Amino acid sequence: MGRKTTLLLIVGILGAYYVYTPLPDNIEEPWRLVWMTTLSKSVANLALLVEVLGINHFMNIAMFFMSFQEVPPTSDENVTVMETTFNNVPVRVYVPKRKSKTLRRGLFYVHGGGWCLGSAALFNDDFLSRRTADRLDAVVISTNYRLAPKYHFPDQFEDVYNALRWFLHQDVLDKYGVDPERVGISGSSAGGNLAAAVTQQLIDDPDVKIKLKTQSLIYPALQTLDMDLPSYRENSHFAVLPKSFMVRFWSEYFTTDRSLEEAMLVNQHVPVESSHLFRFVNWSSLLPEKFKKGHFYNSPTLGSSELAKKYPGFLDVRAAPLLADDDKFRSLPSTYVITCQHDVLRDDGLMYVTRLQNAGVRVTHNHIEDGFHGALFHHGFKIRYRIENQYLNWLSENL
Ligand SMILES: *[C@@H]1O[C@H](CO)[C@@H](O)[C@H](O)[C@H]1NC(C)=O
Ligand SMILES: *[C@@H]1O[C@H](CO)[C@@H](O)[C@H](O)[C@H]1NC(C)=O
Repeated sequence: MGRKTTLLLIVGILGAYYVYTPLPDNIEEPWRLVWMTTLSKSVANLALLVEVLGINHFMNIAMFFMSFQEVPPTSDENVTVMETTFNNVPVRVYVPKRKSKTLRRGLFYVHGGGWCLGSAALFNDDFLSRRTADRLDAVVISTNYRLAPKYHFPDQFEDVYNALRWFLHQDVLDKYGVDPERVGISGSSAGGNLAAAVTQQLIDDPDVKIKLKTQSLIYPALQTLDMDLPSYRENSHFAVLPKSFMVRFWSEYFTTDRSLEEAMLVNQHVPVESSHLFRFVNWSSLLPEKFKKGHFYNSPTLGSSELAKKYPGFLDVRAAPLLADDDKFRSLPSTYVITCQHDVLRDDGLMYVTRLQNAGVRVTHNHIEDGFHGALFHHGFKIRYRIENQYLNWLSENL
């Protein structure tokens, strides 16, 4: 083979690898998604290369590329945007400019990014917070929190919890003109995980008198025990959030030691002493029939106790809100859950919905049949606006 032919062959294979993204039939605007995932695959591969060469951590490179999407806290014609700190945690505050005769609703928002990436300053998070403040005439607090790999569980959880507790002081609500009876929390992906976790924690917190009226969980991550759910099996190679990335995010939340990730990938990280917890994430009993179709429930393979001793966080209910018992569930506020069909995290959300319903909590479940992970944050996609409308309508009626 000549040099030219070899070169062509390599370029062809690389090109096909990049652009070839097998997509489900019902995806709207497939070329947009192919283009977006091609970009994110390139960044991920570059970050992997830099990591393999020992130059820097994967997440640091990914965060570096992401930082180009940050926008300053600029007020617009309808919303005043400012930055401050709540209990030493940096937050962005969005206050509608129009006059209000009554107290406003308050929404505490937690961004996503796998506990490793993201910030309240990212264009898409800033955009959603602005729209929420404007459309709902609400004060929106968009919180930051410390990220892995520099910080691990429970730092992310504690930052979000501390900022939320600060917001729920009567004098802070007074300062922003927020009605203490109408405060909700929202979060997407890892932010949905943190939102669900702090909402549970707040229930029994004797120091906080003001309680949340709603929680909205947008394709949240809710459990660490079973990485072999039907949604993980079906979407394991779906380019937006492949299983390998999700497992990496989960394990980075607890440690940079890759042995936890390796055990999670083969679903052998839970020790025998914790096997009783599997009942909380048993998809065989918690998933609606249609999502179980074609899948067989394998009883989990148990791992050694060593990992759980070193990194107990992954068995902690503050990291995995599905591990709470039914008593805790009964006290949760009115809940909105978005799940997407093409998402490894789909079944986490579905099981949470089942457990909330079983506990008698008022829950609205919005399953997006043509949805994929992150769909609310992909600017320019039609699906983004559809989901945003449904989400804001629910808040408008329930918060
Ligand atoms: C401000 O509100 C007006 C009236 O609702 C709307 O037409 C306009 O697009 C809003 N501006 C921004 C920047 O959202
Ligand atoms: C999960 O639920 C099924 C029944 O749907 C049951 O047979 C199985 O033993 C359960 N497994 C665990 C680990 O709880």
